[in-house]
Amino acid sequence: MRVLVTGGAGYIGSHTVVQLVAAGHEPVVVDSHVNSRPSVLPRLEELTGTRIESHGFDLRDADATSALLGEGGFDAVIHFAGLKAVGESGRSPLEYYDNNLGTTFALLRAMGRHGVGTLVFSSSATVYGEQAPVPYREGHEPLVSSSPYGRSKVMQEQILRDVAATGAVRVALLRYFNPVGAHPSGRIGEDPQGIPNNLMPFIAQVAVGRRERLQVFGGDYPTADGTAERDYIHVEDLAAGHVAALDHLRDHPEIRVREWNLGGGRGTSVLEMVAAFEAASGRPIPYDVVDRRAGDLPAFWADASRAEVELGWRATRTIEQMCADTWRWQSANPQGYPA
Ligand code: NAD
Ligand code: UFG
Repeated sequence: MRVLVTGGAGYIGSHTVVQLVAAGHEPVVVDSHVNSRPSVLPRLEELTGTRIESHGFDLRDADATSALLGEGGFDAVIHFAGLKAVGESGRSPLEYYDNNLGTTFALLRAMGRHGVGTLVFSSSATVYGEQAPVPYREGHEPLVSSSPYGRSKVMQEQILRDVAATGAVRVALLRYFNPVGAHPSGRIGEDPQGIPNNLMPFIAQVAVGRRERLQVFGGDYPTADGTAERDYIHVEDLAAGHVAALDHLRDHPEIRVREWNLGGGRGTSVLEMVAAFEAASGRPIPYDVVDRRAGDLPAFWADASRAEVELGWRATRTIEQMCADTWRWQSANPQGYPA
């Protein structure tokens, strides 16, 4: 399949591009580089041994998006492009709604105009909100979220369901848990700009000497060691989940819209992650336990059985592999991608 990968220069998109090529598909990247560097693209060509067609524009440019899809030959779209920082979304809600909804509108219109009928969408476990029982199951309702970022995902899911109901597009809604790790080559990985918001890149930057100490947000949660638990998933497993969803939609034309959790199905605490990273890197991770971060939940993980039964997909990589691969990437690229 020829697959348009929006946000294909970003963290999860770049790993998915590599796996699409390995699976015999032809990915085409579009990315505005608002949160990525064009220098990832030659590395994708190096890893795949093939030329990757790429386009640098903002998807909200409806004419450019339509012109690209109008070039013809696309079988499907994987829509990663979006802004994703929970805290920043509270400070700039309009920017988040505009970007995350605007990209989806432009894409859906262009797909409709040019007859591209299959979409795989990046959703998030954040759509389960604060009240859903753990483990999270796809059938849970209502979907709610506590941040503008999360609400933009709830809204996009709803918009996609509404458009899918007309028969215009068939949609996989993939709800990611906590993606971490990097390609085992160490050539591509997560490269947050500025101070990392997320745990794994922060730990990695402490290990490599870019930051002094980790702040552990909350030591008094009702968990085994008092720190919060999350369902970490290796980005390589996550990328494989996209290929599986794409193949599944192709093989099951009766599906209009379907949600799948992509997680490992178990919780790991902040301190367990710190210990695993120390072991993988051989570096100490000094930390201080500080107050809880506003909005954080104590513990959640996926029931990932629907993806296993229907997609034949399961997360197989361990916490140790997540840390070892992150460390290989971080130690070889201490400042991330070249500018
Ligand atoms: P990322 O920021 O690394 O990648 C997103 C890419 O989209 C970036 O390269 C960015 O430049 C591009 N982009 C943003 N707005 C654009 C626009 N208007 N036009 C064109 N390109 C644009 O993020 P990621 O971690 O790879 O996340 C990919 C998707 O997965 C996002 O939709 C995100 O919300 C979702 N998601 C991520 C996580 C996570 O923890 N990483 C968890 C759940 C869901
Ligand atoms: N944490 C720290 N110190 C840090 C960063 C994080 O202790 O410097 C803790 C957090 O408090 C949390 C855990 O590490 O307990 C994981 O935090 P992340 O920020 O890495 O991930 P979150 O679970 O908060 O957020 C992720 C995605 C969001 C998504 C959310 C809900 O990044 O996009 O899951 O699904 F909205």
